[in-house]
Amino acid sequence: VDKDGTRVFDLRMRAGRTEFRDGVHTPTWGFNGSYLGPTLRAERGEKVRVRVSNGLDDASTVHWHGMHLPARMDGGPHQMIEPGDTWTPHWTVDQPAATLWYHPHPHGRTEEHVRRGLAGLFLLDDEESRALPLPDRYGVDDLPVVVQDVRFDGARLSGDRGLMQNVGFLGDRTMVNGTLRPYRRVGDELIRLRLLNASTARTYDFGFPDGRGFSLIGTDGGLLERPAVMKRVQLSPGERAEIVVRVRPGERLMLRSFPQDGYGDAWQRRFGGGDDSFDVLELRADDRLRPSPAIPDRLVASELPDGEEAARGRHFDLKLSGVNGRKMDMGRIDETVTRGTTEVWTVRNANGMPHNFHVHDVQFRVLEVDGSPPPPALRGPKDTVFVPAGTTVKLALRFTGPPDPEVPYMYHCHLLYHEDQGMMGQFVVV
Ligand code: C2O
Ligand code: CU
Ligand code: CU
Repeated sequence: VDKDGTRVFDLRMRAGRTEFRDGVHTPTWGFNGSYLGPTLRAERGEKVRVRVSNGLDDASTVHWHGMHLPARMDGGPHQMIEPGDTWTPHWTVDQPAATLWYHPHPHGRTEEHVRRGLAGLFLLDDEESRALPLPDRYGVDDLPVVVQDVRFDGARLSGDRGLMQNVGFLGDRTMVNGTLRPYRRVGDELIRLRLLNASTARTYDFGFPDGRGFSLIGTDGGLLERPAVMKRVQLSPGERAEIVVRVRPGERLMLRSFPQDGYGDAWQRRFGGGDDSFDVLELRADDRLRPSPAIPDRLVASELPDGEEAARGRHFDLKLSGVNGRKMDMGRIDETVTRGTTEVWTVRNANGMPHNFHVHDVQFRVLEVDGSPPPPALRGPKDTVFVPAGTTVKLALRFTGPPDPEVPYMYHCHLLYHEDQGMMGQFVVV
């Protein structure tokens, strides 16, 4: 924290080597270290400044995924940082406690930059959530779980997409927080997992092999109004979920990703990753566990728009060839929205392959999935929503500015190969 009370972070993108396996050193990229980046943390109402320096040989950007902030601080493809340069965005945190993240966003190169290791968590806190008796000791009963799939090609990380599928790069094993075969000792009855799907293309369906239920307490942009007990939570690239699971003394509990029904056609399940399963993270419980307070029935008051007062609607048709039939063009503004208004966006995937839809700057409410009310996992604040083949989702979004007719925000498919291929558009808030 500096003199005027601003919380200051330093992030340096750099190339390095990471020892994922004994004695094997893999070329990787990271923020400050050699792979991934530090967890940043700030409080609602706090001023934040990040000095982002680029120690790579490649130009890149750093985007604050899920953050409400001015477009010129957003770190999208218009805020490029040349090698050797430093970019210093600043903003005031003005949104609820949440599990957000940061990653590069250079136009056409995002998949590669993220896959090499550039990603990190950005946690937000507020008074309302701190007053709740939820597990909140970071690294003790509140664990960051950054999930990525990787494939090794000798000592190197492969980026090969393969010939049989078109969702993007898919690995053959997963890592958590940059660690292969991860496990964590835990000493509390209730463990909160902050799940981030930081994979470039793969969708996961998380649960536990014994079918035990867990409480979903938060989605992309913050806590739910009420916890939802469920057995599986599906996350497409970029999405987050906060879950709380009860462990038993002395047990080893595996967080697993299961094959998925709602994904795509038979081809996509087979070649696009939908049939795959992975052991993701093992929790090793101590023989004696500290008792945890029960999860409260009510969490936080929703700040989401409800769509009733929507000023207008828009339609987005998702295809690998572009959104609404147009490929991303850095020089074209696709949509202009009015500050202070709520809109309803209908997003349709009439394609045979899975896509998702991410909108910068806002947390939206999912109003409908194929004409029905959303399942519990989509009832909280969202900035990214999975849109499986043949599905239509309806979203309510409120744009609260600040106005800037010059610098756009992005919306796009967060399967990063698709984004890089041009499944992205730009909107300004005026
Ligand atoms: Cu996480 Cu526009 O991206
Ligand atoms: Cu984003
Ligand atoms: Cu896509």
